[in-house]
Amino acid sequence: MADKKAQLIIEGAAPVELPILTGTVGPEVIDVRSLTSTGRFTFDPGFMSTASCESKITYIDGDKGILLHRGYPIEQLAEHSDYLETCYLLLNGELPNAEEKAKFVSNVKNHTMVHEQLKSFFNGFRRDAHPMAIMCGVVGALSAFYHDSLDINNPQHREISAVRLVAKMPTLAAMVYKYSMGQPMMYPRNDLNYAENFLHMMFNTPCEIKPISPVLAKAMDKIFILHADHEQNASTSTVRLAGSSGANPFACIAAGIAALWGPAHGGANEAVLTMLDEIGSVENIDKFIAKAKDKNDPFKLMGFGHRVYKNRDPRATVMKQTCDEVLTELGIHNDPQLQLAMRLEEIALTDPYFKERNLYPNVDFYSGIILKAIGIPTSMFTVIFALARTVGWISHWKEMLSSPYKIGRPRQLYTGYEQRDLKK
Ligand code: SDX
Repeated sequence: MADKKAQLIIEGAAPVELPILTGTVGPEVIDVRSLTSTGRFTFDPGFMSTASCESKITYIDGDKGILLHRGYPIEQLAEHSDYLETCYLLLNGELPNAEEKAKFVSNVKNHTMVHEQLKSFFNGFRRDAHPMAIMCGVVGALSAFYHDSLDINNPQHREISAVRLVAKMPTLAAMVYKYSMGQPMMYPRNDLNYAENFLHMMFNTPCEIKPISPVLAKAMDKIFILHADHEQNASTSTVRLAGSSGANPFACIAAGIAALWGPAHGGANEAVLTMLDEIGSVENIDKFIAKAKDKNDPFKLMGFGHRVYKNRDPRATVMKQTCDEVLTELGIHNDPQLQLAMRLEEIALTDPYFKERNLYPNVDFYSGIILKAIGIPTSMFTVIFALARTVGWISHWKEMLSSPYKIGRPRQLYTGYEQRDLKK
């Protein structure tokens, strides 16, 4: 909705009027689409002040530490909802009623198995391959099995692809883990809920089917909710960009997984645990805080800082509470890494460098400690993030394709050679 205008005064040229668009909440945006008529582009590396699209799915107020999914605060969803109900909300815009939820859950359950031939893809990977390398491969490979539903302009194809991806990511993630362990892959079970089923496929074997701890399953489900979606972050923007070329949904999600892998993004949860191991003890914290502040040192305090949150990441607050619950349930009262993490947070939050830059713990700071306590190896942490974020990625993919869109194709400021001739 454009009810205000910005005026761009360019020396020696006529002023340019640009519409100002307002959303439901949040910052206004200046619509610069007509700027090309002046023969100029905007310049914004890293998209620090660029809105790439219009969306109704998630809203973040970084100054107030607010995260809403279709208007519902993340704290309320984490407390009162479950992951599949949150998936329905993200995909469809409203929470399901009892009948809609039952139908959605049943639909997901009936798509949790993967084609038997997909197992052969795993054997091409070294046993010690990073789980994210395998996930990039096998999720992209899903395209090869669903020729019946790759027409992105067909709403039914978009719908079944969304369900297949939400349903199969836990199965694939567990298969990746079992492959790295050299254990038989476990089939999903329809008598278990989403999080219980994932823990079953991860930790049970054909020799022994142990009951799943309801506390750990609830914590796992909450971790999935907390990672489900987060506006136009790097991996979601990657999925939208890939989708804008007409690529099939499985290829787009594989692209999102690749983007998430980086330690500045979803790879941070794994990097936090590696960092805590490197710090080793409370006595070394000051040395690492100094490294984080040293501009000549590439070291950053993993799990701290955020492009949007300049206040606490609300997910980190819920994650910390869940961390306490899980460690108490497991009787790990004085987990050394948790003690170290809490001391590190205390010190960092009082340090002027971090305070001046609004660097608070983000979603990745505590999640690794819970995942480790549940028994998930560090190398699988970003796979868990990708599993949970798939519903966010596919919701944005669906939203983009459901209304007119153009292929994403940014321009550039060229500072290379002018034309020169090849002299032989
Ligand atoms: C996720 O976008 C999303 O929504 C992502 C995510 C999601 O759900 O999709 O929330 C998930 O990726 C969370 C972030 C996980 N990454 C980390 O924990 C890695 C450590 N964090 C940093 O790499 C950094 O904070 C970023 C990448 C998260 C944000 O970087 P920005 O927005 O580009 O900020 P910046 O690098 O410009 O930092 C501003 C200043 C700089 O110092 P000055 O140049 O102003 O002196 O703060 C410093 C930075 O050097 N800084 C840090 C720091 N983070 C920023 N210094 C030390 N340690 C850090 N962690």
